[in-house]
Amino acid sequence: VLHSSAMVNSQGKLLFNIYVAFYCLAVTLPKICICSQFSIPSSYQSNKDPGAFPVATNGEPFPWPELRLPNTVTPLHYDLLIHPNLTSLDFVASEKIEVLARADTQFIILHSKDLEIKDATLQSEEDSRYMKPGEKLRVLSYPIHQQIALLVPEKLMPGRKYYVDIDFQAKLADGFQGFYKSTYRTLGGEQRIIAVTDFEPTEARMAFPCFDEPLFKANFSIKIRRESRHIALSNMPKVKTIELEGGLLEDHFETTVKMSTYLVAYIVCDFKSVSGTTSSGVKVSIYASPDKWSQTHYALQATLKLLDFYEKYFDINYPLSKLDLIAVPDFGSGAMENWGLITYRETSLLFDPKTSSASDKLWVTVVIAHELAHQWFGNLVTMEWWNDIWLNEGFANYMELVSVNATYPELQFDDSFLNLCFEVIARDSLNSSRPISKPAETPTQIQEMFDEVSLTRSCLEGDFTSGGVCYSDSKMTSNTLASLRGNVEVKEMMTTWTLQKGIPLVVVRRDGRSLRLQQERFLKGIFKEDPEWKPLQERWYLWHIPLTYSTNSSNAIHRHILKSKTDTLDLPEETSWVKFNVDSNGYYIVHYEGNGWDQLIEQLNQNHMLLRPKDRIGLIHDVFQLVSAGRLTLDKALDMTRYLQHETSSPVLLKGLSYLELFYHMMDLRNISDVSENLKHYLLQYFKPVIDRQSWSDEGSVWDRMLRSAVLKLACDLNHAPCIRKAAELFSQWMESNGKLNIPTDVLKIVHSVGARTTEGWNYLLEQYELSMSGAEKNKILYALSTSKHQEKLMKLIELGMEGKVIKTQDLAVLLHAIARNPKGQQLAWNFVRENWTHLLQKLVFLYVQCVFLHAVKLFFESLKAQGSHLDIFQIVLETITKNIKWLEKNLPTLRSWLLVHI
Ligand code: BES
Ligand code: ZN
Repeated sequence: VLHSSAMVNSQGKLLFNIYVAFYCLAVTLPKICICSQFSIPSSYQSNKDPGAFPVATNGEPFPWPELRLPNTVTPLHYDLLIHPNLTSLDFVASEKIEVLARADTQFIILHSKDLEIKDATLQSEEDSRYMKPGEKLRVLSYPIHQQIALLVPEKLMPGRKYYVDIDFQAKLADGFQGFYKSTYRTLGGEQRIIAVTDFEPTEARMAFPCFDEPLFKANFSIKIRRESRHIALSNMPKVKTIELEGGLLEDHFETTVKMSTYLVAYIVCDFKSVSGTTSSGVKVSIYASPDKWSQTHYALQATLKLLDFYEKYFDINYPLSKLDLIAVPDFGSGAMENWGLITYRETSLLFDPKTSSASDKLWVTVVIAHELAHQWFGNLVTMEWWNDIWLNEGFANYMELVSVNATYPELQFDDSFLNLCFEVIARDSLNSSRPISKPAETPTQIQEMFDEVSLTRSCLEGDFTSGGVCYSDSKMTSNTLASLRGNVEVKEMMTTWTLQKGIPLVVVRRDGRSLRLQQERFLKGIFKEDPEWKPLQERWYLWHIPLTYSTNSSNAIHRHILKSKTDTLDLPEETSWVKFNVDSNGYYIVHYEGNGWDQLIEQLNQNHMLLRPKDRIGLIHDVFQLVSAGRLTLDKALDMTRYLQHETSSPVLLKGLSYLELFYHMMDLRNISDVSENLKHYLLQYFKPVIDRQSWSDEGSVWDRMLRSAVLKLACDLNHAPCIRKAAELFSQWMESNGKLNIPTDVLKIVHSVGARTTEGWNYLLEQYELSMSGAEKNKILYALSTSKHQEKLMKLIELGMEGKVIKTQDLAVLLHAIARNPKGQQLAWNFVRENWTHLLQKLVFLYVQCVFLHAVKLFFESLKAQGSHLDIFQIVLETITKNIKWLEKNLPTLRSWLLVHI
């Protein structure tokens, strides 16, 4: 999952605090339904100076000053007719929106972006009954708010229905948003074009003028014109096809249930599908380009299983009679839950037994589970406004865990889920993290609600405090609180989690049987001795933390809710150690003062099995986090890894290895060769038994397989001779067989990376990249290509990525990230990003900075900030780099001397 979520992150999407759902799900779930009863809030009304109206493109005053639409007119039903032309790459369309006037008004405001409005008319219900033609409307447009105003000759009457007819046209968009074109290559080498939509959150307005806010739910009746060589798909099943003059066909789809605009979808393509039926009779189909059809079967099986599961689990049937899942060749994010027509990046849906690894399979399953969960949570029940998007995404994330565990226990998703949670912690422990629920108004802010990144202010002016707790910006609390009304205690606990940013650190000090507990905000990269530390703590972070703990004396799980800054607790029995956060289920980090850590390390060395695997993962995670926060020295954390040689659980071993590997990588990237050499020796020597036990096969459980991939990759990265030899041998066999030989999928990436070390191998891989029909294989080849030591080869990859033909634009972010992690590529990638900054931003590509230590990068972001660019992502970038540099300065001497003792 790790690589795939890296992909997702680089698109700046997703990742929310799942844990809140964890704690309070049982209580909040019934209440969240409040959100589905959409009343239209009155707070929309502008309180600005009515004289300060904006100016429309034609110079006239635009009658509406707000970003949010007025509630004077609301949509009931859309009739949409769309005719995309896949040769001229544009579309013409018309719509009839049935609206209800709720107040007398002289204008109708709609969202519209980059659409050419040809004509707009209005009919009253009566006009329509008597077939009276509509009255032509004047149209003003105000692109800054992505709105148009239809000026009606006579005031609309409250309580009456009207029909708005609009003819419009536009080019098929270039990127990944709105109604855009996507291309793919056939086995025969032919380039083909399809047209596809992606609307969330605010891009339906690029495809048709509409009330593009989630609470304006309506029914949609969609018709699509196409040539006979194509098919058309939409949310609903097709009712009929009409043949038009000139051979064009027009597909009519059933009217949708009431739904938000961001969930509308339609596609014109020439894809093939496989279908099956769930036990409740829903027809499920998986679509892919014709040559990828054979990779759709796993998704079909998984979808049928998961849909059955959800129908039983929610005890609500999926409301449509069909569900299509489609693999789109160019896709901006990982997947999108359009009702009845879910769109996926190819690597999130297709499974190729020959080239997809164990983690690829897990990823496909999880993404399907996630988007299916949205069919209930998000589609059936929708948040009123984007500030509560975390309900949608948080819940879907949580349901991934429930449903995949139930349907595919053999995938052992539990343990990967923990890693996902650790990623969330990583974001939350930066000062620039943001509370879950925040106001979001502009499309950019709305986009950022999906990020794991900040909205940076918290607990400043305008915030309120209550009971010593700092609540940010009262505006955002309304929806969150509304859904919890009546349950005061839960409300209190919830708000300490959702309305304040960050993650708590619980400091435990033991004195015999008595424990002293203290909570503070966990901050990475800001140390207790730093001047910023105190003011940040004094913003008064106080959480209600449901603690759990266990001791060596019994199997019992003890509980305690920490509500105050400090607290004491008496252990029920004498023990040699105490471990908090059982199974790492809680959203907090624990630090044991005094000799608490030593006692735990001692236990791990004596018999690690006395602690549960997830507790061991949690300990390893926390110990390294505490080093980053300056609360522990690195040697303590390294000492903890000393028992790993004997670790029996693959997820735990993987976790420990990943930190050590990270350090090696850091040293390598910074060219600190004495340390990287010593670390290399240490790793190869210390983990020799683990390396030697790996086979070059696809056998074993999912975690054994993932461990194999990681261990052999590390061994080859460290130039371990037997590893290189084996990989090179497999690679040359593969080349000799002209790519026909099946290499075990778990080691494919490693074999290719070793193969890419020679020019001949690299060139051959690039050829195969172009020809491959498997996204899973292409990802692995691209990674291998990006590990080359030759800068001209890396430059060639970047050029291909910019060109967007051989290497698709959707893969550019991942490519740049991979090159930036390559010691020979980091400067190259950085120069490139700096020189092409504006262009890359347009392509929505953000460079990954987890492993960047370059002062130059920091300076660049600082200068951007000084020039007034205030994209929130800059803040997190800056903070991450500063933190990295600081980490190194502080811990390098310790790492150096620890290694000297241990090799
Ligand atoms: N609804 C989101 C996709 C989305 C996110 C669209 C933000 C627009 C803005 C979808 O359900 C989702 O969460 N997709 C993830 C993949 C998921 C399995 C983790 C994504 O695309 O990153
Ligand atoms: Zn989602």
